[in-house]
Amino acid sequence: MFGIEHLLPCPVSAPNPNDYSKSSEAELKEFRTLEELMKEVSEIDCPLRHAAKNTVFSDGNPDSGIMFIGEAPGKDEDEQGKPFVGQSGQLLNEMLRAVGLRRNEVYITNIVFWRPPGNRTPSADEISICLPYVRKQIAIIRPRVIVLLGSVAIQALLETRSSVASIRGRPHLISGIPVIPTYHPAYLLRSPGQKSLAFQDFLRIARNLKSSYGC
Ligand code: URA
Repeated sequence: MFGIEHLLPCPVSAPNPNDYSKSSEAELKEFRTLEELMKEVSEIDCPLRHAAKNTVFSDGNPDSGIMFIGEAPGKDEDEQGKPFVGQSGQLLNEMLRAVGLRRNEVYITNIVFWRPPGNRTPSADEISICLPYVRKQIAIIRPRVIVLLGSVAIQALLETRSSVASIRGRPHLISGIPVIPTYHPAYLLRSPGQKSLAFQDFLRIARNLKSSYGC
């Protein structure tokens, strides 16, 4: 439906009161490349790092207009060093295909860069260690749309305690970039009845890209 040529990054927008950006201009200039940021991340002193096999930084196309942010690597991701390669990743790939997108046309990362032991939810401390680096990735990638997958990503980046159900479908911005909060694929695997709502969100992702083309 949409080819990669529609997905080029947006220019910086004017400040907006609903904007949850925490990146200062100085921070935006601090890392010029994703490679520099990746190196920095691999050296972060996060307790999660010591128990993990690999740092799971990101996957996909850094020039993409769409950035997906999930929760944390699981077992498969820890083994392969790539986000969303297990069962949740298969469902994510299917949902992308359903709206005419391929995985190699989007950029994918997580709120934390290492697998929490036993796949537990990352703690507030672990999230706060990794979050500045997620914000810096956003600043480097400058996507046209950010998709937050699940409550951990939503609550961390939108600074809310709201549930996915109560927040999805409402407009949000990070650094002037439209945000689409939606269900995490792992939740959809457990609650397939909610897949149609998530599919509506994925259609919005595709529409959002189309309408912001040329912004
Ligand atoms: N779940 C996530 O949130 N991220 C992954 O990379 C895999 C599963």
